[in-house]
Amino acid sequence: MQFKVHPSRVTDAKVTVPGDKSISHRALMLGSIAEGRTDISGFLAGADCLATLTAMRAMGVGIDQTDPGELSIEGVGLRGLFQPPAPLDLGNSGTAMRLMTGLLGGQAFSSVLTGDKSLTGRPMQRVITPLGRMGVPIDSDDGKPPLTVHGQFPLTAIDYDMPMASAQVKSAVLLGGMYADGTTSISETAISRDHTGRMLRSMGVQVEKSGNRTSIVGLQVIQGRPIHVPADLSSAAFLILAALIAEKADVLIQNVGVNPTRTGAIEVLQTMGGDISLENPRLLGQEPVADIRVRSSRLGGVAIDSSLVSLAIDEFPVLFVAAAAATGKTVFSGIGELRAKESDRIAAMANGLRLLGIEVHESRDGAVIHAGQFGGATVASHGDHRVAMSLAVAGTVANAPVTITDVAAVDTSFPGFCDCMASLGVNIEAADEGLS
Ligand code: S3P
Repeated sequence: MQFKVHPSRVTDAKVTVPGDKSISHRALMLGSIAEGRTDISGFLAGADCLATLTAMRAMGVGIDQTDPGELSIEGVGLRGLFQPPAPLDLGNSGTAMRLMTGLLGGQAFSSVLTGDKSLTGRPMQRVITPLGRMGVPIDSDDGKPPLTVHGQFPLTAIDYDMPMASAQVKSAVLLGGMYADGTTSISETAISRDHTGRMLRSMGVQVEKSGNRTSIVGLQVIQGRPIHVPADLSSAAFLILAALIAEKADVLIQNVGVNPTRTGAIEVLQTMGGDISLENPRLLGQEPVADIRVRSSRLGGVAIDSSLVSLAIDEFPVLFVAAAAATGKTVFSGIGELRAKESDRIAAMANGLRLLGIEVHESRDGAVIHAGQFGGATVASHGDHRVAMSLAVAGTVANAPVTITDVAAVDTSFPGFCDCMASLGVNIEAADEGLS
C-alpha cells in the first residue's frame, strides 16, 4: 500500500481523530484483570490495540466489541487469566509487548510473546531486567523477542531506578507491582506519560506519586468502571502540522487528550511560532482533554529543549517535517531513543526529507534540519506508521506529488488517516503498491 499526496489547499475544518493508543491498550489490560464490567468508549480499533484485544481474549477474557470503538469487558479479576493456548502475537506493538511482560509476570503460567519483523527487532532488556528483579525469569533472543515469560506469584516488590525515560517500562513494573507482596516503586529520570497510574486510580487502586517516584501496593482490587478514551494527540499532531504550514487554515480538532505528559510537541510548535490554543479544557475521567484550535502560522527554527523529549517522544517525525517547513535551522538533541522505535526514526526521516530536497545532518542522538522547499519524490516509510504520516504532511506543501511507500502500518495507530486528511482538503490517494 502507498500514499500519493498532491500539493493541497488545507481549508477551515472541524475534525476528530481516533482514540488514544496508549490509553486503549491500558483500558483493555486493566479492564480484563478488574472485578466486574468495564465499558470502553472511544477505543482505538487500530491493529496494535486489536492485537492486545486478541491476546486478552486468548487468556479467557470475555470482550464484546459492539462497535469498532465500543467494548464491554467482563473482568476476570487479578488472578483469573488462563494460560494462552499459543504464543501471543502482538504484531507491531511495542506497548502491548512491554506492558504485557508485567501483566504476565504475575500469572501462575508461562506464556510466549512475539510480533512482526519490526517488533522482534526491538530491545526488551529494559523490561527483562526489572521483572527479573521481581522474580520473573524471561527468556529472550539476546534481549529481543520472542519472549517467554515464566509467570510467578506473588512477585517480589522492588524499588527501581529506571535508567531511561519510558512509560512502557514504568507501566510494566507497575503492572508487575499489582502482583507483588508489598510496595513496588519506580523512579524516572525524565517525565514519561502517566496513563497507567491515572487509570489505576480511577479504578479504585491507590497509586502514590511523589516527585519522580510512583509507588503501588500489590494485590489491590481493580474495580471495573466505564472508561472514555480521548482522541489521540499523537494522531492529531499530523493534522496540527498540516494546518500550521497551510497557507490559510483554521482547524479545530475535537476532544483530544492533552495530558501534560504528552503535550511536548504542542509546546515545541508554539515556540516555533505556531498559533495553537487549547479550547474548552475539561476532564474525561482522569484524563485532561480539550479542543485544539490551529491557525496557519509562519514557523521559525529553534533549538529544541531536551527536557521536552520524553513529552513529545512519538511526535519527532512530524516535528522533523515542521523544522523542514519552517525558516532557518532546527536543532534536535537527546533523541537517540528514536532509533529504537518502530523504525530508526532519525534515519528514516532524514532519508525521506533528503529525497524531498531538505538538508539534514544526522548524529547518533540528534539532527540538524535546515528549512527548505519540499520537492516531489517517492520516499520510504520503512513500515513505520508515524514516518509515513509525517511524510504525507510534507507532501501537502511540496511543489510536486510525494509518494510514500509501504504505508500499511498506518492502520496500527490511525485507521481512516486518508479520509481525515481529505476532510481538511488534502488531496491524498491510497493505492496498492505499484498501481499508481
Ligand atoms: C507508550 C510509550 C512510549 C511511546 C509509545 C507508547 C506507552 O514509549 O513511544 O508509542 O503507551 O506507554 P516509551 O515509553 O518506550 O518511550
